[in-house]
Amino acid sequence: MATMAPTQSQPQTKREGNIADSFASLSGGNQPPLPERFLDLKRSLVAGHEDRVIESWNRLLAQLKQENAILAKDKSKVIPILEFSTLDEDLIRLRSDIKKRGVALIRGVIPESEARSYKNEIEEYVRQNPSTKAFPQDDPQVYELYWSKPQLKARAHPNLLEVQSKLMNFWYSSNPESSIALSQTLTYADRLRIRQPGDAKFALGPHVDGGSVERWEKHGYGLGGVYDKVFEGSWEDYDPWDASGRVSAVMDNYNGLGACSMFRMFQGWMSMSNSRAFEGTLLVNPLLQLSTAYLLLRPFFHPLKQSKDVSKEEYLAADNWAFSGSGMTSELQGATPGHGQELNSELHPHLELDTSMVHMPEVKAGDFVAWHCDTIHAVDSVHQGQSDSSVLYIPICPVTEQNAHYLVRQRKAFLDGTPGPDFPGGEGESRHINRPTESYLKSYANPEGLRAFGFEKLVVSSSDNPGARMVTKKVNEILGF
Ligand SMILES: [Fe+2]
Repeated sequence: MATMAPTQSQPQTKREGNIADSFASLSGGNQPPLPERFLDLKRSLVAGHEDRVIESWNRLLAQLKQENAILAKDKSKVIPILEFSTLDEDLIRLRSDIKKRGVALIRGVIPESEARSYKNEIEEYVRQNPSTKAFPQDDPQVYELYWSKPQLKARAHPNLLEVQSKLMNFWYSSNPESSIALSQTLTYADRLRIRQPGDAKFALGPHVDGGSVERWEKHGYGLGGVYDKVFEGSWEDYDPWDASGRVSAVMDNYNGLGACSMFRMFQGWMSMSNSRAFEGTLLVNPLLQLSTAYLLLRPFFHPLKQSKDVSKEEYLAADNWAFSGSGMTSELQGATPGHGQELNSELHPHLELDTSMVHMPEVKAGDFVAWHCDTIHAVDSVHQGQSDSSVLYIPICPVTEQNAHYLVRQRKAFLDGTPGPDFPGGEGESRHINRPTESYLKSYANPEGLRAFGFEKLVVSSSDNPGARMVTKKVNEILGF
């Protein structure tokens, strides 16, 4: 592949495409083995402390076994459910659950009828604009829409902004000088899904957003030392909620279509439909710290006996897995440059994905679901329900310099009606009729909403630490205030 050489994230326009381009398995074709430099990288990550890594792997397998048994039994019951009407109490009550699970369902964020009307409004917008692109084009499930009125309304909805900023406070900075502010969110203009009953094409298997090989690369997440503890052999000390290292991490070294170059702390969606398990909805692996540690360490180990030759229990047993040492290859299971990180039962057997990927509990229109940026997630392979399963993708992004630079370009894209800089290019909605304008946004959004979109100066909060105060001032300059 000619594009394998590392490049820093660059402000460049992407080619046209759709959501299938984000994942190697959806875009088809066998991927060639990773180049030798990934083998050198793997060796250097564990050099000199191989024993600690091996011991930590064994502890990890034991812990996974225990937790997987709970998931197989309790399934969706482990997902923390909060009510918007009692948000503050629920956040306190469920704090440790949310931190462990990495996911939260918040009910009733937007009134149900309002959220349902968003879906009808989008369908009308598509009818008025038959040139709207989608995946698959002949039977649309995910539209290449970024700037419809309902998307603007949801992103700027005061209730949602409140939920987002409160969830963002699950994160913290171990370094108070880190250039990140957690007191307000910035908007990331993502797509939407209106999935029809019976659809089996928009079947995204287990994956993690935020790049793939970058998680191991020294010029990727390594720039912020995000996963250093895991590679050092002490995954228990790795805190998924410490934002300090993420500020300088690079998540997209290969200009991947569908890669997110903004730092989003959570991915999320606002439901526009009532959807139950198996009705085209989301599944997550709710073991944030363990699953991250496993996905990162898996490439350093291999099975002695193959799964076809022994029972599942023998295959998964710690004594069947050896550190690869001199036999190590360049493979980073499920990671392909320019694509999202994919996972499956064959490559990641100890995650027991068949039973550890649990469905969202039933959601209604107006419910919001958020999951940590390192959470393994998937979409039902077949939508077996009777009506549409529809969501607006709305992540939660903090104030950082990198995010502000993206916001400037995204603000321009909004004014032009083209997709945000991370997304497949083309004319997008620039010639769509009834596309909302800046004056529409300004008539709808309150100051907080306008700040999120980059149309109002950010506020420096007295409770912010020194790094947050500094970065907020800097971001205001970047935004032109
Ligand atoms: Fe995803």
